[in-house]
Amino acid sequence: MKNVQYPPFVHWEVTPECNHNCIHCYNYWRKSYNFCDSHERQLTEDHYLRIAHKIIEQKAHTAVVTGGEPLLVFDKVKSSMELLRKNGINISINTNAVLVSDEIIAFLKQYGIGMFISFPCAEETVCDFITNRKGSLKKILHSLDCLVKNGIQFSLNIVVSKANIDYLEQTIDFLRDRYHIKKIYITRVGKPVNADSSFDKFLLSQEDLDRVQDISVKTKYEYGIDVDTGCPYTLCSINSQKSFELFGYKKFCTAGKTSYALDTFGNLKACPRDSKIYGNIFEESFSDIWERVAEWRDGSLLPEECKQCKHVEICKGGCRVDAFPFTGKLNSLDTTTNLENLPIKYIPKSTAIPEFFDDDTFIKNPFTCVKEDFGYRISYRQSYIFITEELKRFLDSKSIFNRSDIVNDFSVDSTIANRILSRLAMNGIIQVVRR
Ligand SMILES: C[S@@+](CC[C@H](N)C(=O)[O-])C[C@H]1O[C@@H](n2cnc3c(N)ncnc32)[C@H](O)[C@@H]1O
Ligand code: SF4
Ligand code: SF4
Repeated sequence: MKNVQYPPFVHWEVTPECNHNCIHCYNYWRKSYNFCDSHERQLTEDHYLRIAHKIIEQKAHTAVVTGGEPLLVFDKVKSSMELLRKNGINISINTNAVLVSDEIIAFLKQYGIGMFISFPCAEETVCDFITNRKGSLKKILHSLDCLVKNGIQFSLNIVVSKANIDYLEQTIDFLRDRYHIKKIYITRVGKPVNADSSFDKFLLSQEDLDRVQDISVKTKYEYGIDVDTGCPYTLCSINSQKSFELFGYKKFCTAGKTSYALDTFGNLKACPRDSKIYGNIFEESFSDIWERVAEWRDGSLLPEECKQCKHVEICKGGCRVDAFPFTGKLNSLDTTTNLENLPIKYIPKSTAIPEFFDDDTFIKNPFTCVKEDFGYRISYRQSYIFITEELKRFLDSKSIFNRSDIVNDFSVDSTIANRILSRLAMNGIIQVVRR
């Protein structure tokens, strides 16, 4: 992976405060921190706007507005989100959805903002137990109903722990029936970095992890619902060919490489789940801070076992924070690692490359671009790709082209030209016009 100067993703934690108090929540500060006495109560709309300007300066492609519960400070963050959208930055809000209101729905609609919503469990008592709030399920469902009614895009995320694993299938069935979901996130719980051993009763065993994968496979292949995960699987923890097709080679840790997190004060971390602060964007230049985050991208945080593994380029050793609560080190093996599964016997699902023909015509969509040292990041709507200077020059020089232009300009055969075109087409950079 090339070193980017302008990471496409930022997780912006707009408040540490929350109206829920989930038993698994990784917000490490929440136990030792009394928000009511904190400075953050005094944070103004202007403070948020200053952070939004920094995010714009850093040419983010997508800002994930998160927390704590971001809707608690919606009134103060609204103008910042507006500013980000006006500067072409995509926004997704991580939320428990309870505070969704007509005003928020109108705002989401106006600015094309989607939501990533925590859904603990469809069984009321379990949901209330997880969130530590009575009546939480009813409130979440009411909000989801309103979002559906108003056509707002959202994805649901079930964080699976010992508390809800026995209800996982029931929860998926419920969401299927009630919302006809097309996609769901099923995420293994991670131990929060500040949690003590009393948390361990909620952790998943190896058998549980296999069960979660089996349920994910069933959800995808029997029900036709796409399954993703908020936290990557290590390749050696994947337990079947079908699970490999679902998770293998698809998701890996982006922290410190193409993403970073900002807390409420502008402190920069590589990962929202981590507690290590690399600097403050109001006190230092972003590039100086980003330089110090290099340990997340130069391989120095990889466990020794992973450095020897031939799958490391794809797997990246799973989650660097996962074992930290047990070892105090970021370079420890992800707890799901299973070295006995090496070398990996499963194969990734091959993605069909569309076939293009010589009389196809390609038209560019109005993509935006960000210059990097090694080339460009180009993006259209939610997608982005990195391309070389040569390909960028080619795209700039033509408004309409066909496959033979690629073959001739890059001295490649039609198979390679197809690959280039399909990458551009699948990411919405070009459209094909077929006679
Ligand atoms: C910390 S929450 C903040 C946003 C919002 N309050 C919510 O619950 O969606 C961000 C995301 O992290 C997930 N999450 C929280 N604790 C987690 C843990 N221990 N392991 C894995 N994911 C976790 C939540 O479900 C949510 O999707
Ligand atoms: S709703 Fe989100 S921030 Fe709040 S406690 Fe639950 S996971 Fe944490
Ligand atoms: S040994 Fe490390 S790099 Fe290799 S598959 Fe397992 S977790 Fe991934």
